[in-house]
Order: sequence, then C-alpha cells, then structure tokens
Amino acid sequence: MLEERIEPQTPEAPETKTWDAAVVGAGYVGVPLAHTFATSGRSVLLIDVSPEVVEGINRGESHIVDVPSEELAPLVESGRIRGTTDYNEIRRADAVLIALPTPLSKQREPDLSIVIGAAEQISVRLRNGHLVVLESTTYPRTTRDVIQPILESTGLKAGRDFHLAFSPERVDPGNGKWTTKNVPKVVGGITPECTERAAQLYEGAVDTVHRVSTPEAAELTKLLENIFRSVNIALVNELAQLCERMEIDVWEVIEAAATKPFGFMSFQPGPGLGGHCIPIDPFYLTWKAREYDFATEFIELAGKVNENMPYYCRSLVSQALNHGRQRSLSGAKVLILGVAYKADIGDTRESPAIKLIELLRAAGAEVSYHDPFVPELREAALASVPLEPGDYDCAVVVTAHSSIDYDAVVEQSPVVVDLRNATGEKGTVSEKVWKL
Ligand SMILES: NC(=O)c1ccc[n+]([C@@H]2O[C@H](COP(=O)([O-])OP(=O)(O)OC[C@H]3O[C@@H](n4cnc5c(N)ncnc54)[C@H](O)[C@@H]3O)[C@@H](O)[C@H]2O)c1
Repeated sequence: MLEERIEPQTPEAPETKTWDAAVVGAGYVGVPLAHTFATSGRSVLLIDVSPEVVEGINRGESHIVDVPSEELAPLVESGRIRGTTDYNEIRRADAVLIALPTPLSKQREPDLSIVIGAAEQISVRLRNGHLVVLESTTYPRTTRDVIQPILESTGLKAGRDFHLAFSPERVDPGNGKWTTKNVPKVVGGITPECTERAAQLYEGAVDTVHRVSTPEAAELTKLLENIFRSVNIALVNELAQLCERMEIDVWEVIEAAATKPFGFMSFQPGPGLGGHCIPIDPFYLTWKAREYDFATEFIELAGKVNENMPYYCRSLVSQALNHGRQRSLSGAKVLILGVAYKADIGDTRESPAIKLIELLRAAGAEVSYHDPFVPELREAALASVPLEPGDYDCAVVVTAHSSIDYDAVVEQSPVVVDLRNATGEKGTVSEKVWKL
C-alpha cells in the first residue's frame, strides 16, 4: 500500500530538487518513459502502488519487455532511476507524469478511479512551478474537467501556479523499431504556457514533439489512432468471413492490395482484439459522445464485428474437426498455439485466446495451450504444455510467435486451424490447414 504520510504542505518549491520527473505507474508505459528520460540524462522517480514492482526496479530488474534489465540496471545504479511507493517525493520533482491504467467498468463505462486517486495524491503535494502531465488514454475533457479541479482544490491555479497538460502515450510493447523515444509526442496544455512547458520537458528526451492547442485535441488524437485500428481490423475481419463463403484467401487479397503504394494500409484479420488499448479505448469516446447526443456508430459496429470473432473462430475449429478428423468439438483435444494478445510478447490482457478457450471448453473440448512467453494463463487456470501437436486432434494458431516452427506444427498435427496466416498455406482450406 502507498504510505499515507504527508509532509507539511506549502506551495513553495523545496530547497533541494532531486528529480527532473516523477512518473506515476511503472507499467508498460511508465517504465519505457522513465527509461527514455533517464537515458537522455534526466533523473526519474518511478512511483507505483506495488511494492514488488518497486523492489524489482530498485534491484535493476525490469518486468517490461521494452526495457531490458541490462539497460535498466545501470540507470538505477547511477541514481537516474529509482522506484518508490511513496508519493511524498513528488514535491522534489519538477514534473509529474501520470501513466496509470484507464480500464472500462463492468458496464463498459470509463473507470477513471485509479487516475483520480493518483490526482488526489498529487494534489496534496502540489506546489508552485510543478508540471503535471496526464499520459493515460482517456476521453476528451478529462484533463480539464476531472484532473484540473482536483489539482486546483489546493488553491493553486493551473496556468498560473502550476502547469497542466495532456500527452498521449503511443508505445507499442514489443515493437523494436518504434519506441517511446522515436515516436513523436503530441502535447496539449490547458494554456499555451502549459503546452510549452510540457513540450520542453519532452524535447531532448524524445525525438519529436508535436504541439496541439488544447488537451482535448491531444486526448482525441490518441482515441482517433486506436479507433482507426479497431475499425480497419473490423473491416478485414468481416471480409475474412465473406471470403470463407466465397472460397477466396483473404490474406492473399490483403497482400495484393498492399502492393498499392498509396491510399491503402494493410490490416490483418484475427481471432479478436486484445491488449490494453484497442478493445477498450474506443468506448471511452462512445461514452463521452452520448453526453452530446451523438452515437459513434463506426465504433459500435467495429466493436460488434470484432467481439464476434472468437465465436466465428470456434465455428472454424468445429468445421475443421468435422471435416478433417470426423469428430465433434465435444471431447476433442485442442491445442491452442499462442495465448498472448500479440506475437512475441507475454501480455495476455484482453487476449482473444482467453475467450476462444472459454468457448471451446463450453462446447466440450479439452483445451491445452503452448506459449513460450506465457508459462501460466491464470484467466483459464492453465499452464503452457510442451509443443507436441501430434498428441491433439487439432492445433489452433491464435497468436503467431516467431519462435514456433509452423511447418513442423502442420506436419505433426492431424488438423490445423490457422487464424494468423502463420503456416504459409495458400487458400482458405487445404487438406490439413483451415485458415481464417
Ligand atoms: N500498454 C500499452 O501498450 C499502452 C500504449 C499506449 C497507451 N497506454 C495507456 O497508458 C496507460 C497506462 O497503461 P499501462 O499499459 O502502462 O498500464 P500497466 O497496467 O502496465 O501499468 C500500470 C502500473 O500502475 C500501477 N498502479 C496501479 N494503481 C496505482 C496507483 N494508484 N498509484 C501508483 N501506481 C499504480 C500498477 O501497479 C502498474 O504497475 C493506460 O491509460 C493505457 O491505456 C497503454
């Protein structure tokens, strides 16, 4: 638990500044952010509610794939990064960056409780000259309508006594080419000075800073990016289902369309959306739009198509077993290959594999999985099994980690359902391989 001890508050800056920035939330966003600042010579405090996370960081051990321990450890040793569960040190930081989860509630409404709790913790330590930047993905006006009033409840005023801005995080975990450093940073402040102050913080640490006029523009920029993905994935998911009926290989079509050098961007169909962002963020906008009597139909439709994909994929597995193995799903031994939400990482949040396992089990299948990145899948109470496809009626490629030899999987399995175009077979159906 976070310590509740609070130092006597004054709006004045402390005599000694210790940290260039405090990053609240040492997760997929916060750790790469701290690493980017620290490698550019800044000192960063990482604040997290979890003592295990903090202890790991202070031992120089990274739990985030994008920041290897070999890179974290020297930064911790030299004092450029330190972890803590104690918010009090915020007063000795110039800037406070909030990189906390913004999930949906059970009713699929924005749940800002974690961010609000952190803003309250920050507010009682807020001082003159502080810069506060919200990085968590959220709906437009959150910075102005939710965070600003909490921080101003202290009597300090945004734009006059402290600076406040929104800057969306665009990290793509596991992406070695595009990192926190070289992906441009969009920044929008409550006042032009707030924008400038936030932009100056990032400049020098990240390669490019793009200023927008308001936090709302910055908030909506992030949502547009994720909605764009969700809608386009839904489009190819729908096309994949039509292609199955028409006996056309959707992957071949997408590959061919992608040869057009302009006006087309390639998206891949799959078993459903996964991860912390794409299945969740669009609904932040849907919720907010309702307040303006506006229905975000593209988002809703994309959500409907994408959420149906695990059901559609279950029916593919069922057909493949019927035709290729002359047996029903009930009682069949099914091996799921890959349960992380995307290739070559171990993150299972919102992974469509979880839903597919649940559906296959509900139909009576006996499901196991193999994933070199996920030794245990708590959501399904399963542990990864050795890769022995010959022991199963059917192998289903749900997430195509690059370390797996898919030719060998095809060779050893009685039937393969390939939801990721990993096996290299052409056409929607071959003797053995059923493709999405
Ligand atoms: N993961 C991504 O790929 C990604 C990409 C872009 C944007 N985002 C957005 O960034 C935000 C953060 O996401 P994330 O993936 O880094 O989350 P995360 O779950 O990886 O990390 C959050 C960290 O915050 C800690 N935490 C929880 N409550 C806390 C509290 N009250 N005080 C201090 N620490 C607390 C948790 O222990 C965890 O270590 C979200 O809004 C997300 O939508 C995520």
